[in-house]
Amino acid sequence: GDESTVSITVVGASGDLAKKKIFPALFALYYEGFLPKHFTIFGYARSKMTDAELRNMVSRTLTCRIDKRENCDEKMDEFLKRCFYHSGQYDSQENFAALDKKLMAHEGGRVSNRLFYLSIPPNIFIDAVRCASSSASSGNGWTRVIVEKPFGRDSESSAAMTKSLKQYLKEDQIFRIDHYLGKELVENLSVLRFSNLIFEPLWSRQYIRNVQLIFSEDFGTEGRGGYFDHYGIIRDIMQNHLLQILALFAMETPVSLDAEDTRNEKVKVLRSMRPLRLEDVVTGQYKSHTKGGVSYPAYTDDKTVSKDSLTPTFAAAALFIDNARWDGVPFLMKAGKALHTRRTEIRVQFRHVPGNLYNRNFGTDLDRATNELVLRVQPDEAIYLKINNKVPGLGMRLDRSHLNLHYAARYSKEIPDAYERLLLDAIEGERRLFIRSDELDAAWALFTPLLKELEEKKIIPEYYPYGSRGPVGAHYLAARYNVRWGDLGVEQ
Ligand code: BG6
Repeated sequence: GDESTVSITVVGASGDLAKKKIFPALFALYYEGFLPKHFTIFGYARSKMTDAELRNMVSRTLTCRIDKRENCDEKMDEFLKRCFYHSGQYDSQENFAALDKKLMAHEGGRVSNRLFYLSIPPNIFIDAVRCASSSASSGNGWTRVIVEKPFGRDSESSAAMTKSLKQYLKEDQIFRIDHYLGKELVENLSVLRFSNLIFEPLWSRQYIRNVQLIFSEDFGTEGRGGYFDHYGIIRDIMQNHLLQILALFAMETPVSLDAEDTRNEKVKVLRSMRPLRLEDVVTGQYKSHTKGGVSYPAYTDDKTVSKDSLTPTFAAAALFIDNARWDGVPFLMKAGKALHTRRTEIRVQFRHVPGNLYNRNFGTDLDRATNELVLRVQPDEAIYLKINNKVPGLGMRLDRSHLNLHYAARYSKEIPDAYERLLLDAIEGERRLFIRSDELDAAWALFTPLLKELEEKKIIPEYYPYGSRGPVGAHYLAARYNVRWGDLGVEQ
């Protein structure tokens, strides 16, 4: 109600994520009228900075929605006036106690709700949680903490982190972010499945031949090599972002839209997955490449990466869900940096039409004639279904056409950033899009043995040129399961 306040403290306020995502998302929420009447934002970091300096730093990151430019400057000023800075160490109870005093002054005796966004490296994570919870928790409202990956780097370290977190926080205070769950099309996946009659009946091994989850970026690890080299693409993208999409894609119908009901179904999928075998995985690493007179660096050219690093910047994997719905259906994942394009999509390839009357129209290439549903998560959001259609005119010739829902054409509204949705949910206590600890455990249980084996056997990644389509090994892997990657044809 009106008599409560929300204080949002961004711990690690001068970091990249804070500047690129968190402050802009908070401003967008403010602009759209989603923040409560009484709110205060604090930046917390080690460096000395005044409120004015923080505001100046934040102001450079803010933008307005294209469709609402008019009073944007005014709104920005109002917003910035609600932003403050507190300098402190991440492991100092005293410094957090000083923050507590400032927060109380702003809260002015109202019910105080406090959200801490930990945007700091994992090695100082637990210290910050300890200090924040012991010295800056709310006395009469809720206290919630948003944490970002990496949540450890295997089952063991992740469990240790969960255990430490739970010394200071209850599970319902912990909001583990996987920002892919905040993306519009990922959120829409359940709507598509469960509110349209025509998809759900087809959503099983009976009609689906394979599912592909594809993440590609057209830039390397530039500047982030230090972090990345310790994790690699499997931990950076597959174990979290792609696996979360897979779980939403494959889960049974939840009892309701309640957070726990959805998370129960997701965790069931994860726990039904077949252990990943080394032969079902292909890894790659980008090497330098010169194109049109421009030369692009190799992964190991990064100063913070060792010359002989075997860390994969690309991986493809075939996964299986051993349950009644998905028995035998390959779920192929592919994730890579420094590829030819930036795109994330979900591709569903359906089975051949049995006894197809029009078979002779397709010649030997029956694969091409199967229906394919594509959800393009980014960029340029779209959902389209490839169908066979008669080419207009005399005679009988078929071609492939798209039933196309192109977001830019259909909806004039700009799509909010994933962080906006997730921050708002955290403020409202909506947990559906956050990762519960048992989900996290199940995700690590799936990938840990594979990661250990890759590292112990020092598996050499297949090198691919910067800007290419990645290692050919990915094709052999797919071919073994009778799959052709859907993103390789020429299409739109
Ligand atoms: C992060 C990864 O989780 O997601 C990065 O650590 C990656 O390596 C990023 O670049 C991609 O997010 P988005 O929203 O830009 O697709």
